[in-house]
Amino acid sequence: MEQKKQNGFSSKVGLILAAAGSAVGLGNIWKFPYVAGENGGGAFLIVYLICVLLFGLPLLMSEFIIGKTSKKPTISAFSTISGSKGWLWLGGWCVLAVTLMMGFYFVVTGWCFNYLFESVTNSFATMDTAGFSAHFDAISSSKPRMLLCGLLPIILTGTVLWFDVNKGIERLSKILMPMLLLIMFLMAVRVLMLEGSSAGMRFLFRFEWSQITPEMIMKAAGQCFFSLSLGLGLLITYGAYMPSVQDITSTSLQIVVLDTLVAVLAGIIIFPAVFAFGFNPAEGPELVFEVLPAVLQKMSLSWLSSVLFFTLLCIAALTSTISLMEVVVASICEVSGGRLNRHHSVLITGGIVSVLMALCIFFPQVFTWTDILETTILLPVGALGVSLFVGWFMPMKNKDLVPRSDKRWKTLMRPFLVFALRWIVPAAIILIFLNGQGVF
Ligand code: PHE
Repeated sequence: MEQKKQNGFSSKVGLILAAAGSAVGLGNIWKFPYVAGENGGGAFLIVYLICVLLFGLPLLMSEFIIGKTSKKPTISAFSTISGSKGWLWLGGWCVLAVTLMMGFYFVVTGWCFNYLFESVTNSFATMDTAGFSAHFDAISSSKPRMLLCGLLPIILTGTVLWFDVNKGIERLSKILMPMLLLIMFLMAVRVLMLEGSSAGMRFLFRFEWSQITPEMIMKAAGQCFFSLSLGLGLLITYGAYMPSVQDITSTSLQIVVLDTLVAVLAGIIIFPAVFAFGFNPAEGPELVFEVLPAVLQKMSLSWLSSVLFFTLLCIAALTSTISLMEVVVASICEVSGGRLNRHHSVLITGGIVSVLMALCIFFPQVFTWTDILETTILLPVGALGVSLFVGWFMPMKNKDLVPRSDKRWKTLMRPFLVFALRWIVPAAIILIFLNGQGVF
């Protein structure tokens, strides 16, 4: 018990950067700009911010409350607080969702690493626009290459987790997150100086109130869940490592602000550049791995721009894989009752995730099924479980944790949090779920 207390973050900023690193990922860089641009620009941003405040923030806070109260990793946090083994299923559910997600996420992270190598070795120099499209197809179907590119981030993530939290995750987050922000600012300034970049800014920030439709609100809500990595109980494990003096409300607010800032900055980098060179904005992997490399190649200092951009993607992906893998590592240690130490657990988790990743690479349908399974069942049930647990079942005195640690919010935050977790969050999750099933 004493030993577990020592394995935690040694500073508030360390936890904030690590948790923001978990949230900041490929969803911020390839998904947010496109969804915002296509769905009313500035109007989408406002709806997104309302979603973040109404249910992103309460859910994020509830994960921290569970972790900080129980001081246990995700797998046993619910049963520890409730004192009932009946809640073990929810911890197990979250860990299952995280484990499956890792296989999928490491494949995509592998693509990012592959493109970083190719940028560094200047392999794109002679490629034309059509060539990039064929190249992505060739790369993503080259199994040995993908295996190698996926194994590298697994080894890197495992190496970080080999150390205790304050020496591994905390130290690295304090380096990588400022680096990520710096690269983004540099690239944004660079891109905004391009002639014709203002069309991209207009695409991203125009106000089209008529675009506020139920469909768009659903998209904003879904993006909010994905971007803040909610529904997997990731921040329960980080919450268990939170310094006891750290205030949950302001910590969560800072994470949300950082995550949104990175998403908006990504849009400011991507669209002005895409428009300046007359490309069409595309969605998802296509935008990042086919359109953007071609755009970057057309810029002056193309080698540097390309290396910086793919370094940015790799950092964003790595800080997320670290948080995913830590949940499983901590849970294995916990379940083994101390028989397995952190090193054993890292090796076991690394083995499991390598197999899952290989399955996704060798059987592309596994990749697609995992994606569908996560978004339609695993994440919604996890998020619903977390909100109902804190809203309805957690003893009241534990919820005092929030206002007690920060007096300014005392009168407002607590009733809002309880109301949001009891009604708003479950309603939002059920609506998103039904929408995903095509009910509306
Ligand atoms: N939040 C990450 C992103 O924006 C995605 C993610 C979800 C990462 C869940 C880890 C776990 O890309």
